[in-house]
Amino acid sequence: MIYNKKYQKIFILISIFNLTVTNLNAQKKTTGISADTKIEILIKKMTLEEKVYMIHANSSFTSGGVKRLGIPELVTSDGPHGVRPEFGRDWELDNNLLDSGTYLPTGICLAATWNPKLGYAFGSVLGSEAKYRGKDVILGPGINIIRSPLNGRNFEYQSEDPLLISKMVVGYIKGVQNQDVSACVKHFVANNQETKRTSIDVHMSDRAFREIYLPGFKAAVQQGGVNAVMGSYNKFRGQWASENNYLLTQILKKEWGFKGLVMSDWDAVHNSLQALLSGLDLEMGTDLHMLPNPDYNKFFMADTALSLVKQGVITEGIINEKIRRKLYIMFKTNMIDGKRLKGEYNTTAHQKIALKVASEGIVLLKNRDNILPILKNKINKIAVIGYNADREQSMGGGSSQVRAFYEITPLQGIKNIAVNTIVSYAQGYDIKRNATANAELIKSAVNLASNSDLVIFIGGSTHGYDYSVWSDNAYDAEDTDKPDMNLPFGQDVLINALLKVNPKLVVVLMGGGALDMNGWLDKTPAVLQSWYPGMEGGNALAQIIFGEVNPSGKLPVTFPKKLEDHPSQKLGEYPGNLDNLTVHYYDDIYVGYRYYDTYNVQPQFAFGHGLSYTTFDYSNLKLLQSGNKVTFSFTIKNTGNRTGGDVAQIYVKPIASLLPRPEKELKDFKKIFLKPGQSKKVTFMLDKNAFMYYNDIINSWVLDKSNYEILIGSSSRDIKLTGKIEL
Ligand code: BGC
Repeated sequence: MIYNKKYQKIFILISIFNLTVTNLNAQKKTTGISADTKIEILIKKMTLEEKVYMIHANSSFTSGGVKRLGIPELVTSDGPHGVRPEFGRDWELDNNLLDSGTYLPTGICLAATWNPKLGYAFGSVLGSEAKYRGKDVILGPGINIIRSPLNGRNFEYQSEDPLLISKMVVGYIKGVQNQDVSACVKHFVANNQETKRTSIDVHMSDRAFREIYLPGFKAAVQQGGVNAVMGSYNKFRGQWASENNYLLTQILKKEWGFKGLVMSDWDAVHNSLQALLSGLDLEMGTDLHMLPNPDYNKFFMADTALSLVKQGVITEGIINEKIRRKLYIMFKTNMIDGKRLKGEYNTTAHQKIALKVASEGIVLLKNRDNILPILKNKINKIAVIGYNADREQSMGGGSSQVRAFYEITPLQGIKNIAVNTIVSYAQGYDIKRNATANAELIKSAVNLASNSDLVIFIGGSTHGYDYSVWSDNAYDAEDTDKPDMNLPFGQDVLINALLKVNPKLVVVLMGGGALDMNGWLDKTPAVLQSWYPGMEGGNALAQIIFGEVNPSGKLPVTFPKKLEDHPSQKLGEYPGNLDNLTVHYYDDIYVGYRYYDTYNVQPQFAFGHGLSYTTFDYSNLKLLQSGNKVTFSFTIKNTGNRTGGDVAQIYVKPIASLLPRPEKELKDFKKIFLKPGQSKKVTFMLDKNAFMYYNDIINSWVLDKSNYEILIGSSSRDIKLTGKIEL
């Protein structure tokens, strides 16, 4: 063949013209046709090879499309609280800084707001920024039940309670998806620890499965309309979760009617046939051993899948169904046809939402003699002490890392507010050392504390896997659990040393959950839990400390006094048998407060606990029953002198039942903000579902004819009103 540049140009022009005409014709032909029909037309046009190319990853975060048919690649990105930095196609962190965006508070802080409207706002920011960055799927929310305080990923998750998760997750998903980006709820299911996450086999009763571990996912599917679900790494009852027919097909798709896409966790697939037949639609991951030249054709759902169809071991229909689901979410988010919304990045509106979530998520645990809020003009010198006061956390934690556009550390936040006060800082400890090695740092911190009017200590856990500061024992990171509930790096010693020289101490703990406070809590007047509160976290914290914001966060998990008290240790297995790699959840349905309240174990801070700078009064409960439905109202009044918010929590307590049940369970809640002296009538309705439990002898949800109490409280241990009904 003779190569002639001139003829080639003409040929290209003719081709473009033909292509345009064909596309216009195709468009004309397809307008007015439903997405379902368009999907079937596309599937018919695809070769088997093209189809198989669409059901596995083709780079670190993408999976294949079919260019000639206008089907783009599907671009995913972590993670639950911001759009992850760019890794290119082959896992090379791109340090061009253009990927620094809004860093939202992590999942547990969002849940601590107990404000579903903020779930929606949070999701909208994420969806909008994901879109701006060219992502089609955001790999979040992470909603695994917080079963053990040691799980390294608790910071990414939300709660120990399935109802709280269910209510928060729906808003998050709708927020993301209303921006034409798919949310991907993860990890389905029983990824409740990071220790041996890729090899353990989790066993639990059907009752625990139905009552505790499934409801969040069910709400995500049926109420949130989530587009994608990610399977987890672990096995569930002997079968890998990401290729588990019972989970993916029987429950998710058949029982719940899930129409979207099921993807595996990264490299969570183990067997081609099993995966293909399980209901898994997309195999994601990268064989990291093969970097820098990974061969995605070697994936379990790649070449092997092709030959399994060619040999007649599986039908092409099985592949078609996977394509159908992938195309379904593509049409739903306007990736093919239709006009996608434009995303926005780093707007002040997004930053305001990050601030709002942090302000409502930070929890005031203790405030003896109302030491907080601090009156700025009454304090001359403040000592801020602790590694976390001055550390940026956004790049820590593993896959949920975010390169923040900016991050206001607690120290910066305090300086921003306390402008006329001398604010001095001492690190006090280092995350690479223990108390003995930190002696010098402790000494200078103590010196500073003794010369100050007030000490604010900011410590707790610290995100691991920050690429700039690597520390093996910095916790709250993926793929690792915490060794115990102790404050790491000798912080107990430091806090006690500070208390000795200055008892006016405010302790702020950052991290994914409960830490043992026994060494100093009695002597410490004020404690705040600030989680990882995102890019505006330092401002939010300072605004609370100095009273510009009245705290309204509530614990989404129980804080036990000590690890040995925890149900995963007392009743269940954690981290399980690491020889035969099984974990039995013998703690069953007694997760979190369900355990403490039933077994009468006093927690350090109860589920739902969180103080305010004002006080609330609950009165005038009126119940109206009609059949198995009960409507009730009560009045909540702000009896203090500041505007503030409380979360009215509705628990149901069965008086008698056929099978043992927890003492009480959360069935609804509402966050209510009131001005000083203001009161509001609040109304709730509970239907029969609120009184049912899963009877795993007959495998069915049942309602016992019995007496029930409806408890209205501002924590699981602070019940303000009680009503009785008989069903
Ligand atoms: C994590 C997922 C994450 C994925 C992609 C996995 O290791 O478990 O949560 O979405 O990596 O980064």
